[in-house]
Amino acid sequence: MRSLITYAVSAVFAVSALCGAQSTAGIEALVHRRLSNHANDFTFSLSTPTPASYAAPNTTAKQNDEYTVSNAANGTIHISGNSPTALASGLRWYLTTYAHVDIYWFVGSRLHLAPQHLSPVNGTYHGSSIVPWRYHFNTVTFSYSAAFWTWDDWELELDWLALRGVNLPLAWNGYEKILIDVFREAGFSDAEIASFLSGPAFQAWNRFGNIQGSWGGDLPMSWVDGQFALAKQIVARMVELGMTPVLPAFTGFVPDMIGRHYPNASFVNGSQWSGFPLQHTNVTFLEPFDPLFTTLQTSFLDKQASAFGNVSSIYTLDQYNENNPYSGDLGYLRNVTSNTIASLKAADPNAIWMLQGWLFYSSATFWTNDRIEAYLGGVENSDMIILDLFSESQPQWQRTNSYYGKPWIWCELHDYGGNQGLYGQVENVTINPIEALANATSTMVGMGLTMEGQEGNEIMYDILLDQAWSSTPLNTATYFHDWVTARYHGPATLPAGLYSAWDSMRKTVYNNTQISIANAVTKSIFELAPNTTGLLNRTGHHPTTIQYDPAVLVQAWKSFYGAAAQEPSLWDNPAYTFDLTDITRQVMANAFYPLYTTFVTAANSSLNATYSPTQATKTGQQLLTLLSDLDALLTASGHPEHFNLAYWIAQARAWVSPSNTPATSNTSSSSIITQTADFYEYNARNQITLWGPTGEISDYASKPWAGLISSYYLPRWSMFVEYTLNSSTAANGGNAALSSSLLAFEEGWQTGIWGEAAGESYAMASGNELQRVVARVVGDWPGVFG
Ligand SMILES: *[C@@H]1O[C@H](CO)[C@@H](O)[C@H](O)[C@H]1NC(C)=O
Ligand SMILES: *[C@@H]1O[C@H](CO)[C@@H](O)[C@H](O)[C@H]1NC(C)=O
Ligand SMILES: *[C@@H]1O[C@H](CO)[C@@H](O)[C@H](O)[C@H]1NC(C)=O
Ligand SMILES: *[C@@H]1O[C@H](CO)[C@@H](O)[C@H](O)[C@H]1NC(C)=O
Ligand SMILES: *[C@@H]1O[C@H](CO)[C@@H](O)[C@H](O)[C@H]1NC(C)=O
Ligand SMILES: *[C@@H]1O[C@H](CO)[C@@H](O)[C@H](O)[C@H]1NC(C)=O
Ligand SMILES: *[C@@H]1O[C@H](CO)[C@@H](O)[C@H](O)[C@H]1NC(C)=O
Ligand SMILES: *[C@@H]1O[C@H](CO)[C@@H](O)[C@H](O)[C@H]1NC(C)=O
Ligand SMILES: *[C@@H]1O[C@H](CO)[C@@H](O)[C@H](O)[C@H]1NC(C)=O
Ligand SMILES: *[C@@H]1O[C@H](CO)[C@@H](O)[C@H](O)[C@H]1NC(C)=O
Ligand SMILES: *[C@@H]1O[C@H](CO)[C@@H](O)[C@H](O)[C@H]1NC(C)=O
Ligand SMILES: *[C@@H]1O[C@H](CO)[C@@H](O)[C@H](O)[C@H]1NC(C)=O
Repeated sequence: MRSLITYAVSAVFAVSALCGAQSTAGIEALVHRRLSNHANDFTFSLSTPTPASYAAPNTTAKQNDEYTVSNAANGTIHISGNSPTALASGLRWYLTTYAHVDIYWFVGSRLHLAPQHLSPVNGTYHGSSIVPWRYHFNTVTFSYSAAFWTWDDWELELDWLALRGVNLPLAWNGYEKILIDVFREAGFSDAEIASFLSGPAFQAWNRFGNIQGSWGGDLPMSWVDGQFALAKQIVARMVELGMTPVLPAFTGFVPDMIGRHYPNASFVNGSQWSGFPLQHTNVTFLEPFDPLFTTLQTSFLDKQASAFGNVSSIYTLDQYNENNPYSGDLGYLRNVTSNTIASLKAADPNAIWMLQGWLFYSSATFWTNDRIEAYLGGVENSDMIILDLFSESQPQWQRTNSYYGKPWIWCELHDYGGNQGLYGQVENVTINPIEALANATSTMVGMGLTMEGQEGNEIMYDILLDQAWSSTPLNTATYFHDWVTARYHGPATLPAGLYSAWDSMRKTVYNNTQISIANAVTKSIFELAPNTTGLLNRTGHHPTTIQYDPAVLVQAWKSFYGAAAQEPSLWDNPAYTFDLTDITRQVMANAFYPLYTTFVTAANSSLNATYSPTQATKTGQQLLTLLSDLDALLTASGHPEHFNLAYWIAQARAWVSPSNTPATSNTSSSSIITQTADFYEYNARNQITLWGPTGEISDYASKPWAGLISSYYLPRWSMFVEYTLNSSTAANGGNAALSSSLLAFEEGWQTGIWGEAAGESYAMASGNELQRVVARVVGDWPGVFG
C-alpha cells in the first residue's frame, strides 16, 4: 500500500515537470490516505485535461470546474471531472451525501467511518462550480492559526481544502529563507537582517511591512530552515492536489541599513503601526521604481522557482496593508504599481499579482476612489486578482466600480485574531455572493475564506465554500440538517435534539443581520482586561454584544446535551464532544455578563438603588467560580488543539529539535535548545495576550482556552474583584493603581515558562471525563443551564 502512494506521488511530479498536465494521482493518494479500505471502490478520470497550465492561468479564460459521479459497470463509483479539484469536490459530494462522512479542522478526518458497503448513486450526478477560483487563507492566518503547525497539521488542512474544492491557496511558509538569501546576496550582514525579521508568532505583520525586528530574542536560523523544509512539502502537496499555490514575492520592505549599502537607492519609511515603538515599526520601503527593486525581485523569484519548481505564477504582494503610501499623488500611486508588476514580469512573464483589498476598507480615508483607480490603473486587468477581503460585512467592490475592472474574489472573513465565539451571517454568505455574481458589471471570479484565524463555527466556512457550487443561494435549513447528519456520523438514527439545536442556532446565533452592532465573531468580556466600564456592548470587529437572546442558546444547548442522554454513544463521538464543549463554553461565557453587571452595580456605593456590599461579595465570588468551572470544562474537552493553552505552547516549543539547532563551541547545545524553546513559548504567549512588547494591541487575539483562563484571565478578574470590593471609587473605571498592577501581572506572565510540562498537561481526557465535568458544572449552575 505504502509503495503505491509513493509511486502515485512521484508520478505526478514527473508528468507536471514534463508538460504541466495534471493527473488523477493526487486524488487517488488522498483516498489511500483517508479511506484506505475503499481504495479500490472509487475510480477517477479527467474528462478534459485542463488546457495550458495551472502554473500560468489566464484568469479571464479560466473555466468553472465540473464533475460527474456515476456507477461504473464494474461496480466502482466513478468520478470524472475537468480538473483534480473537480474530482476532489465530486468525491466529497458523494461522501457527505451517501456515506455521511466528512473531514474537519479540529475533529479531524471521519472519512474512515464510511460504511463497508458503499451505496451506488441513485443516478448520474453533475456538479459545477459557479466561479473558476475558490480561495483560502489570509496572510495573518499563517500567524494566528498556522504559526506552529507541523506537516501532519498541514496534511489535514490540505485534504480539507481539496475536498472543499479550493484551488487557490496562499502559501507563505518558508518566505524568510528565500528573503534572507536575497538580502545576503545584496550585501546585508546577518545582524542587519536579524534586526529586520520578526518572531515566529509575528511573521505575518513583518511580511506586510507593519513591524520589523523581534522582541524577546532574534528569529533563529533553525526556525527559518525548518519552515523552509515544511514549505517544500506543502507546495508539492498543493500541486499534487491540483491547486495553484499563491506564492510570495519581494514586497520592497528591507532592513533599515539599506542606505549604507545603496546610498543612491530611493526608499521611504512606512507609518507607525498600532502604536508600536519606532524601533519595531516605521519599516523601510524600497521604491519600486528604483532599479534595485527589480534586481531584488528577480533574485527572489528565481530562488523561489528553484526551490519549489515552476508551479505557480500567482504572487501575493501587499505593500500598503494598514500602512499608507508615502504620497497620495495619483501619478506616484500609478508609478508604484506599474513598476511593481514590471518587476514581477521581469522574472516571470506570466506573473499575476494578488492583492488583499483590506487597505481600501481599513484606510478608506486615504484610499479615495481616484487614488484606488490610479493605483490599480498601473496594472493590466488580466495581471491582477483582488481579494475583496470582508465581503459579508464591508464589501468594497461596489464602491470601487468592481475594482475598475480587475478580477476579484468574494471573501468571507468572519473572525479577527482567531477569537472564538459562536457567530455567523448565514444570510449574507449565501445570498450576497450570488447577487454579486449576477451583477452584470461585476468582475467577480472567485469565492473564498480569509478568516484571520481558523476557529470554531466550521459550518459557516463550509457553507461559503459549498455555495461556490450552487447557482442559487443554498437553503440553509436543508444545509444545516445535512451537515449535522455527516458531522455526527455514527448512530443509525441521530437524536432529533442534534438537529433542533443546530436549526435553532441557524436562526439566531448564526443569523446576525445587524452588522452595525457586530460584524465578526464575538469576544467574551472575560477575555478583556477587567474594568467597571467599557466592556459591554462593544461593536465592530471584536464585538462583545450578544446579538441573540441568550435564552435561545440555553434551549439549544439543552437539546444538544439531551441527545447524549438518548444516545450515549455520542460521548465517544469526537464531533459531539467538540461541539458540546463549544456550546457549553458559550452558554457559560454569556452567563458571565449578567453576573458582571450585578457585581459592578452592587459594588458601586454611589448607586443607592443597587448598592449592596453583600451582593457584591457574593457575585464577585461567582464570577471567579464561573471562570474556574469554565477552565475545568475546557480542560476536560478532549480537544486540546482547540481549547487548551498547553497545546499551543507545546506546539511552539516542539519547533526546536536537536537536529535543526546549530552546534556551537562555547555553549552546550542543550542550553541553546532550551533558550530557543523558551523564546518560542514567549512568542506563543505574547501573541494571544499583550501582542507586542508592552501590550500594543493587548487582548486582540484573546482565546477562551483552558489554562489561559486559569493562569491569566482569572487572576486579572480576581485582582479586579478584590480591588472593587475594597474601593470607594468603583464607579469610575480609571483606577491607576489597579491598572498598573494588572499591567505588571500581564508583563510577568509573558516570561513565565511552562516548558516541557506543557506537553504533558493536556493529556487527552476521555469522553467520560467531559461527561462527568459537564454534569458537575450543570449541577452547580442551575440558574445558567435552566
Ligand atoms: C485570456 O483569455 C481571453 C479570453 O479567452 C483572451 O481574450 C485573452 O487573449 C487570453 N489572454 C492570454 C494572455 O492568453
Ligand atoms: C472500473 O470502471 C471505471 C469506469 O469505466 C474504470 O475507470 C476503471 O478502470 C474500472 N476499474 C476496474 C478495476 O476495472
Ligand atoms: C437513493 O434512493 C433511495 C431509494 O429510493 C433513497 O432511500 C435514498 O434516500 C436516495 N439517496 C439519495 C442520496 O438521494
Ligand atoms: C524611521 O526610520 C528612519 C530610518 O530608517 C529614520 O531616519 C526615521 O527618523 C524614523 N522615523 C522616526 C519618526 O523616527
Ligand atoms: C551615487 O550617485 C553618485 C552621483 O550620481 C555617484 O557618483 C555614485 O557613484 C553613486 N554611488 C553608487 C554606490 O552607486
Ligand atoms: C516613476 O517615477 C520615477 C521617479 O520619479 C521615474 O523615474 C519613472 O520614470 C516613473 N516611472 C513611470 C513608469 O512612471
Ligand atoms: C453592481 O456592480 C456595480 C460595480 O460594478 C456596483 O456599483 C453596483 O452597486 C452593483 N449593484 C448592486 C445591486 O450591488
Ligand atoms: C435572519 O434574520 C432576518 C432578519 O430578521 C430574517 O429576515 C431571516 O429570515 C432570518 N434568517 C434565518 C435563516 O433565520
Ligand atoms: C449583509 O451585509 C450588508 C453590508 O454589505 C449589510 O448592509 C446587510 O445588512 C447584511 N445583510 C444581512 C442579511 O446580514
Ligand atoms: C448594553 O446594551 C443593552 C441592550 O441594549 C442595554 O440594556 C445596556 O444598558 C447596555 N449597557 C451598556 C453598559 O451600555
Ligand atoms: C444616595 O443617597 C444619598 C443620601 O440619601 C444622597 O445624598 C445621594 O444623592 C443618593 N445618590 C443617588 C445616586 O441617588
Ligand atoms: C478602564 O477603562 C478606562 C477607559 O478606557 C480607562 O481609563 C481605565 O484606566 C481602565 N481601568 C483600568 C483599571 O484599567
